[in-house]
Amino acid sequence: MALMIVALIVPGCTSGRKAETLSDDAFLDNLMAQMTLEEKLGQLNLPVTGDIVTGAARESNVAEDIRNGKVGGLFNLKGAQAIREVQRIAVEESRLGIPLLFGMDVIHGYETIFPIPLALSCSWDMAAVERSAQIAAAEATADGICWTFSPMVDICHDGRWGRISEGSGEDPYLGSRIAEAMVRGYQGADLADPATMMACVKHFALYGAVEAGREYNNVYPDDFHMFNEYLQPYKAAVDAGAGSVMAAFNTVHGVPATGNKWLLTDLLRDRWGFQGFVVSDYCGLEQLCDHGVCSTKEEAAIQCLEAGLDMDMVSAGLVALADAVRAGRCSQKTIDVACRRMLEAKYKLGLFEDPYRYCDTTRRAQVVLSPEHRAEARRIAGESMVLLKNDNDLLPLRKQGTIALIGPLANTRPNMSGTWAVAAVPEHYKTIREGLRDALEGTGAKLLYTKGSNVLYDPQAEAIATMFGREMRDNRSAEEMRAEALRIARQADVIIAAMGEASEMSGECSSRVNIEMPDAQHDLLVELAKLGKPIVLVHFAGRPTVLNWETDHLPAILEAWFGGSETADAVADILFGEVNPSGRLTVQLPRHVGQYPFSYRQMRTSRLNPGGEFAKYITCYSDVSNWPLYPFGYGLSYTTFEYGPMTLSNDQMAIDQSVTASVTITNTGKMRGSEVVQLYIGDRVAKGVRPYKELRGFERITLEPGESREVSFTIDADRLGYYEPATLQWTLEPGEVEIMIGRNARETDMRLLTVQ
Ligand code: BGC
Repeated sequence: MALMIVALIVPGCTSGRKAETLSDDAFLDNLMAQMTLEEKLGQLNLPVTGDIVTGAARESNVAEDIRNGKVGGLFNLKGAQAIREVQRIAVEESRLGIPLLFGMDVIHGYETIFPIPLALSCSWDMAAVERSAQIAAAEATADGICWTFSPMVDICHDGRWGRISEGSGEDPYLGSRIAEAMVRGYQGADLADPATMMACVKHFALYGAVEAGREYNNVYPDDFHMFNEYLQPYKAAVDAGAGSVMAAFNTVHGVPATGNKWLLTDLLRDRWGFQGFVVSDYCGLEQLCDHGVCSTKEEAAIQCLEAGLDMDMVSAGLVALADAVRAGRCSQKTIDVACRRMLEAKYKLGLFEDPYRYCDTTRRAQVVLSPEHRAEARRIAGESMVLLKNDNDLLPLRKQGTIALIGPLANTRPNMSGTWAVAAVPEHYKTIREGLRDALEGTGAKLLYTKGSNVLYDPQAEAIATMFGREMRDNRSAEEMRAEALRIARQADVIIAAMGEASEMSGECSSRVNIEMPDAQHDLLVELAKLGKPIVLVHFAGRPTVLNWETDHLPAILEAWFGGSETADAVADILFGEVNPSGRLTVQLPRHVGQYPFSYRQMRTSRLNPGGEFAKYITCYSDVSNWPLYPFGYGLSYTTFEYGPMTLSNDQMAIDQSVTASVTITNTGKMRGSEVVQLYIGDRVAKGVRPYKELRGFERITLEPGESREVSFTIDADRLGYYEPATLQWTLEPGEVEIMIGRNARETDMRLLTVQ
């Protein structure tokens, strides 16, 4: 009976079919006209469900709220069957039968996990980035999810911040290209396609600039730096059509982003033309009170709504505004606008047509963790790893002799996916030990293994580092474990050390000030190095780390980051030469944590010593160089690439014309390999201070041994411009610009271009 009544009120809603005869607008107008104030507010409410919570879990009767039309969506509930059941409550048991949005932190894959975003960015392969998002969407949507809280595009210059692992590194140009590729991958050409999901670009804005790298802290970039660095990837994602945006926890201009009208309306909607909806981050609304800009949750809710927030994650502040509207403290019109945006999102996702379109268990069985997806993830993981050092071509290893695999990251399954892998099923993934075992099968090579050390000496610190089921503590003494490691290492021809951070040492709320090799592992490495045997360090990390000792004492270092579900096979592929490493750093690696914040995009400044070393009355440290240990864009290969001289088609350029910068690259080694050719510019004189060097183009090429290829970049005002300080409009002023091409930010060839 209830069903029939609902069907009469909103034709088609509960029957799961939108009325054929109504246009999109008419359908939504018609629906809005049926809704009570409380039901409209309900659409703005996003409580959490499931086991995964990132803030305080709330006691609530979610099912009852859904029945009463007080819920617009849910997040982090896993499984098509569970989601179908909850959707059924919304569609069949609420008065208007409006379907729910189901969101999840699908950050770098669903069950097939791709490398953590920082690692993925090191592939510089936009097709791979897009494909990873497409596969994530195909799997998540088969399991009930239609909305992902990704891409995270926060630019970060500080390796202390744990969430640097979730972004694409330090560069706004590369970050923008990745942001677009992710949105394209998730959303495809049609959001109503059951294999695509809505993207949510986050955290808007500037979250990556948290002071001192400390989680949830304040940020201070001024407008000039905001526009020229931090804002660009968010804008790129919006321009690519991202359906939603998540407001950041931090303040911008001293006002929390969630309640910041300048940010959410003036910039995002009026200047950038964003058409989708804005959701707060977890309890971001009520945190206006913590920030001390509001004294009650109602005040916070009104401020956020009026600033342009449409959906409230977990605070349950917007849903409680009915009295405020009736008393005239909050405008009904603003609620209508927000509610309409939420309904439009559901409409675009095709939920009114078929609320269960993302709950197809047959499709789930076919696509989730399919061999094809896993093969793609393995390939992409291989592209994301960066070979930092390889003295005397120690790598690739031959599949022969005795290999000792040692380290606390060698035999752990749950750590391989990396942080923020909500849907991961580690029991289906391999450990490094298993990956190497499989790669060596039938070769006669012998693989020995021992753990050698815990992650950290301090059990309490290790418990924090391995939370969320990553626990791996060995209760033997450090001495006992080390003695066994040395005994095994002595029998080996080569040692592979699988060491570094456990996966939860980066990610949300994992800021750290000690970013060197964890103590117990460092001490073990020192002892192993004394044996004089060749050591390959397979290094795991979710952030840039300080690898001074390792660089000075070990012949080969592979920065593996966290490669996702296929990490183990991808590491084996590289170690044994099935795959030629091609990753390039998207954050420079520091020499000392005290260098932070820093970026290769050093702004022009007075008193800079170009050599970066100490000189009195120059901007530098007296105890460490200004330079990184490994520069932005850096990475080795098993082959060698020679760069010919760079040419410019003309050294003069009218401001409305273009020139071409070219270089010929030759693979001078013996193996097929990929190189990332990088274009940098340096504007010598501009009204606003510009970096000495900033990335403005790149191309990833693959060459056979002996093969040469010319790579060209069109240089025009768009590629050279910047947001000038007075108007914050994209501008190029006449003058000299250095055009540079090279293999990384420190090894470039330069030609001078005069813009007239
Ligand atoms: C994080 C977001 C995430 C949300 C939902 C928050 O704590 O900052 O990135 O999407 O939780 O899980």
